[in-house]
Formats: sequence, structure tokens, C-alpha cells
Amino acid sequence: MLSIRGAITAAENVREEILAAAEELLNEIIGANTLTNEQIISIIFTVTEDLDAAYPAEAARRLGIVQAGLLCMRDMYVKNSLQRCIRVIVFAENGKSQSEAVHIYLREAQILRKDLARTCAVAIDGPSGVGKSTLAKALAKELSFIYVDTGAMYRAAAVYYMRLATWPERDESVLSDMRISIEYIDGVQHIFLNGEDVTDQLRTKEVTFASSAKISVNRAVREKLLYLQREIAQKNNVIMDGRDIGTRVLPWAQVKIYLDADIHTRTLRRLNDIIGGDYETVKKEIESRDYRDSHREHDPLTKAEDAIYLDTGNMSLDEVKQKALDLIREGIAVSLSRGIT
Ligand code: DC
Repeated sequence: MLSIRGAITAAENVREEILAAAEELLNEIIGANTLTNEQIISIIFTVTEDLDAAYPAEAARRLGIVQAGLLCMRDMYVKNSLQRCIRVIVFAENGKSQSEAVHIYLREAQILRKDLARTCAVAIDGPSGVGKSTLAKALAKELSFIYVDTGAMYRAAAVYYMRLATWPERDESVLSDMRISIEYIDGVQHIFLNGEDVTDQLRTKEVTFASSAKISVNRAVREKLLYLQREIAQKNNVIMDGRDIGTRVLPWAQVKIYLDADIHTRTLRRLNDIIGGDYETVKKEIESRDYRDSHREHDPLTKAEDAIYLDTGNMSLDEVKQKALDLIREGIAVSLSRGIT
């Protein structure tokens, strides 16, 4: 008999969220282990104490698992452990040996078994102008990972709202018609907004301001983009940069780097990237963006506890890249040896 473990987190303590999460987890377990419903003998679910809106076993019945014995229990409480977590152990008989069991950990629960991660994630966070995207692009190329510029997604959302001449604080409902996607053309990230390539429209002053002041402060926008960002990371090895990657989007990332540099260096770096612009104006713009991005209510810019802090003020791009590559190799090796439950 096989025993297969798995875990997933529910977005909220809401009946449909719990059932959707349990269903996703069971589907993955069944698919990865090529099980039929009839081969499943029993499933034990546990939930953390913050989930009480539904029994996850109901999801199994919905999937047509009718004959297996099911049981739901409250997980033991461990201080500071993962919240809103659904764990399962599935017992099945399909002629395979235990060494062939594929255990499945999804969403934030990937953090429980970093050793089983099916993809690799490197999270790079830091303030504006610090050189995140330059570094992330160079690393992605070197490692053949996908580079995901999450700031560009917030910028595309700004373009969407600017075209409608409204803001999320007034009009969250139009969010359901906003479709943002990413494609890679000759290895370069292109952002599509409702099917239109808007990559060239993302770097104007107005978009920069709106993305920080009007768009990224809204919780519903953040949730929508979070889903998209995680979906990419579940399917690809990624270097993802932004403000909340290590803390919120990919807390399970094997490697987290927080880049920093003093304001003078960042202003010079930004001046180097743009055409025109004077020192004082660019410096002020960066300072006010830093303030907004690190003081907003939802997922503000902050260093994840387990992120490595890198002050790049006196480092060349090559030096930063070399240091980051060392950290990534080391981080991946450590994560391969780390698993909880
Ligand atoms: O990285 P960028 O300058 O392109 O980002 C534009 C804005 O989007 C930034 O000021 C804050 C917001 N942002 C965010 O809130 N969270 C992210 N992960 C990335 C960007």
C-alpha cells in the first residue's frame, strides 16, 4: 500500500476557498501518482485551527471519491507555523512501491518541503533604482531561468486604469475584465494587457507614479497579480523581482536576496537608464516612491527574515552577479536537504 503526503494553503477561511484548495491538492496527487478513485483506500485531512469554514473531505466526495474512508482532524498547533494549511495523507493500493510515491506540496505549503520543490525560485526584492531588473535579467540568462518582472505587471495594471480614467479605490469591479499575461519573445519579457503588447508603454512618468501610488496600494489588484505570479513560478524556474516576492509572493523561494544601495548611488543608476532627467528630480521621485512602497498597508517593501541583505553601493554589476550566483547555488543546495512535514 502507498501512503502519499501533501499540503496546500487556502487563500481564506471561506468554504469555497477551502474546498477549492483541497480539490486542487487531491487532483495533483491523483495525477502525479496515476491513481484511480477506486484505488484510494482512505484519506486523512488535517487543517490548522484558523480554518473552520468547511470540511476538506467534502472536496474528495465532489471529485467522485465515494468509497474511500475519509476523516478530517485539527492539526497540532505549533508556534509560528504555516497558517491556513490543509494537510493530507492518502492511502492507496495501485501496485507501486512506496519509493515511487509522489508527495505534493502546493502554494505556500511548498515551504514545508523545500526538498521536494518541482521548480526553483529566486526572489529579488529592494527599493527603486537599486538594479534589481539588471541583476535578475543577467542571472536568468546565466541560469536559463525565466525572469519575471512583477513591477511591469503593476505598471500594466496602471495603464489599464488610466485608459478607463478611474482608479481601483473607486472601481474594483473593472478588475475582472483586466487580463495581464506575460510572453517571452526572443528571451525578452513582453507584457500583454487584454491581448495587446503594452511593454513599450510602461516606463512613462505617469505610469510609474500611478503604479506606485494608485495601483499597488490596492489589495484586490495585488491578489489578482499574486495569483498570476505564483502560477508562473509553479510551472517554471524563475528569478522574480519586485517588492514583496520574498515576503508574500514566493515565501517558499529557495533563495531570497534583498538588494539595497544608498540613495545617491540609486539616483545615478536610474539617471544612467533613462534619457534626460536631472539629478534632484530623479532623486526626489525615487525617495517618494521608496516611502510609498514601504509604508503602504498591503505587502509593503520589507526584507524577508530569511533574505540575504546585499548592499550593492560599492559593487559593480559583475561583482553583484557573482555574489548572487554563489548565494543561489548555496541556497539551492541547502533547500534540497530541508524538509518538515
Ligand atoms: O519595479 P517597478 O519600479 O517597475 O515597480 C513599479 C511599482 O509597482 C512600484 O513602485 C511598486 C509596485 N510594485 C509592487 O508593489 N510590488 C511588486 N512586487 C512590484 C512592484
